[in-house]
Amino acid sequence: MKLRILPTAQSAARATADHISDKIRTSSIRVLGLATGRSPIAVYRSIADQVAGQELDLRAIESFNLDEYVGLNAADPSSFHAYMQRHLFSHVSFRRSHLLDGDAPDPLAECRRYERDIIAAGGIDLQLLGIGRNGHIGFNEPGSAHDCRTRPVTLSDSTRAANQSDFPAGQAVPEQALTMGIGTILEARAIVLLATGAAKSAALRDALEGPVTTDCPASALQAHPDLTVFADVDAASQLDPALADRQGQWD
Ligand code: GLP
Repeated sequence: MKLRILPTAQSAARATADHISDKIRTSSIRVLGLATGRSPIAVYRSIADQVAGQELDLRAIESFNLDEYVGLNAADPSSFHAYMQRHLFSHVSFRRSHLLDGDAPDPLAECRRYERDIIAAGGIDLQLLGIGRNGHIGFNEPGSAHDCRTRPVTLSDSTRAANQSDFPAGQAVPEQALTMGIGTILEARAIVLLATGAAKSAALRDALEGPVTTDCPASALQAHPDLTVFADVDAASQLDPALADRQGQWD
């Protein structure tokens, strides 16, 4: 694992974008896994700037998003479809972009389709992740088995409360979502995790330094052979200073 601590959320997002674009330019990345949430917004802005400046070309890349709320269709402004359109897809061209359909009549079949599509694309080369305050990745809440696959899940009250601000007043956060599983995420050849803000500091500490346990879904990432973590100083504030001092050198 490699860790880089940056002074601000903005610089951590920029470093994450540069890491992704360097990997696309210098290695044979064809399939990119994408995340939603507030943390990646600045990453996508930076990637869009690089594409606009012709420093980066995504037209040969396929993307797969991590998750979607159940019951929201692509036109719902609070859906992750709409988020991706707003923050990335309206600014850059991918060869093809895949998202789970939260409005699919048969959610289990939709999840199986997604797993098949990932395999048909050759697997995910680089997966971008954020982290929830309770250590969730994608929408894999505490208690999720570390080998779970793409499936419908019930969201915790704390996750729904954390995401309420993404919804207009009066619209409740859906209780269920479809998410790539932890086992699916771990099959990505490389993973980059971005954590910013003090609200993520305990989750990041538990993910990187705690025991590997289903209580902290992100702790499953400790087993991944190619994990790069970008954090701002606030998110890194509870990490062991000895480990934080060795940033960039962990392996
Ligand atoms: C969301 C997403 C996750 C994301 C996390 C943190 O609900 N499903 O993929 O990493 O919560 O989001 P934020 O960056 O807004 O804190």
